[in-house]
Amino acid sequence: MAIERTFSIIKPDATRRNLIGKINAKFEEAGLRIVAQKRIHMTKAQAGVFYGVHAERPFFDELCEFMCSEPIVVQVLEGENAISKNREVMGATNPADAAEGTIRFEFAKSVGENSVHGSDAPETAAEEIAYFFSGLELVG
Ligand code: CMP
Repeated sequence: MAIERTFSIIKPDATRRNLIGKINAKFEEAGLRIVAQKRIHMTKAQAGVFYGVHAERPFFDELCEFMCSEPIVVQVLEGENAISKNREVMGATNPADAAEGTIRFEFAKSVGENSVHGSDAPETAAEEIAYFFSGLELVG
């Protein structure tokens, strides 16, 4: 089993509803350790860079508007197979498809307002962590 780090965002729909503690409890119950965490309010330009891979998608502008609409919490989660474990804990992108007990099943409002983001692969995890955190901020 490999110890990995993954990048996570608690999105505006969840921070607005005071769900940070409940979502963090799901991560911790699954064995994921929060080794870095901060509350920030992104600009639209910052959101556009972060979601650059989706720039050609029809929902890109809506996604960036939403992600800079209110504060978010950015995090680094550490644990055995953290990337896939976090994706299991989050559930499917569309909450209509999310399994019972997952974060998106319990809290997400729609495919856009889906409460959390998590990296999908080791390369993207490394890039996403480096976009928001310096090495000194990661305390394992
Ligand atoms: P996330 O894991 O943050 O990565 C990209 C996001 O795009 C995704 O979660 C969804 O919230 C969002 N997304 C995907 N499909 C749609 C859609 N059809 N409409 C709006 N947002 C979407």
